[in-house]
Amino acid sequence: MTIYFAPMEGITDGILRQTHNRIFGGIDVYCLPFHKLTQSLSLLTREIRDISPEENEGLNVLPQALTRDPEQLSAWLYYVSECGYSYADLNIGCPSPTVTKRGRGSGLLLDPGYLRSFLDCVFANTLPVSLSVKTRIGYESAGEWPGLLSLLADYPFAHVTVHARTTREQYTGPVHPEAFELALQKGLPHPVYNGDLRTVEDVHALMERCPAAEAVMIGRGLLADPALARRLRGGAAASEEELKTWYTSLYRGWNDRFDATIALGRIKKLMEWPVGDDIKRKRLLRRADNIESCISAVIGY
Ligand SMILES: Cc1cc2nc3c(=O)[nH]c(=O)nc-3n(C[C@H](O)[C@H](O)[C@H](O)COP(=O)(O)O)c2cc1C
Repeated sequence: MTIYFAPMEGITDGILRQTHNRIFGGIDVYCLPFHKLTQSLSLLTREIRDISPEENEGLNVLPQALTRDPEQLSAWLYYVSECGYSYADLNIGCPSPTVTKRGRGSGLLLDPGYLRSFLDCVFANTLPVSLSVKTRIGYESAGEWPGLLSLLADYPFAHVTVHARTTREQYTGPVHPEAFELALQKGLPHPVYNGDLRTVEDVHALMERCPAAEAVMIGRGLLADPALARRLRGGAAASEEELKTWYTSLYRGWNDRFDATIALGRIKKLMEWPVGDDIKRKRLLRRADNIESCISAVIGY
């Protein structure tokens, strides 16, 4: 089974990817958070750094773009190729209203006619890298999925990642594994399941339900348990020592790159996932004002 580490903007930067790979591993592909493409095609400094080969040394990464403009996408795909990568991903799943109101991300799902003409233009020429796509199963309702599925099946995507929720459902509430089953039945090329795989048992349940599934993408599950991919491969759970090294290394990396305030903010945001709904640990984490107190809030108190 192929395991993708989901892209999470503001979280899964190069520091987190390298640190994760060094301590826990188990990931086949680390997905880069999206580059928001613009008319001028100029990328932000942080986006250029994030895709640079130095930032990703030793990792398999999948860069991602957010756009509804075929020319922007084409220029960016050449840039990705010049950076030395062979694969890239198109985001048509982002549910953020600031993105969708401009018809980007999952905003594209609202207008299948435009989506088709966009993809016709994209695939009209030979692409410099293989293109995959990450989608939701509809904008308003899962009833849109069969139509969307046949649309996507008309294009030679390297793979299709399916976050088994609609745009309206954002990131919470039940997922729709039956939508992924349908993708498998309809022969969508290389579908990758995404959505709420938090534990080893969740992944096993998915594989039982969909034995033909080849690949999964995991996001928040890996933030809560960074050893999840290793455990899925039969390896050990995270030890206390590893978790301490994980958090300390991330804090140091972010402190060196940004400053202590940003590093602490980022580490606390990340730690919300392992802490979950545990009220006592949540309170300790909220009060923590240095990395040591953050770690004791999460690991031991
Ligand atoms: C903070 C945050 C940032 C995200 N950024 C991106 C992104 O840049 N590109 C993308 O395709 N998905 C992004 N996602 C969606 C995740 O990649 C993933 O599809 C989603 O979290 C569901 O998977 P999970 O339940 O395993 O977390 C983001 C999600 C979160 C919570």
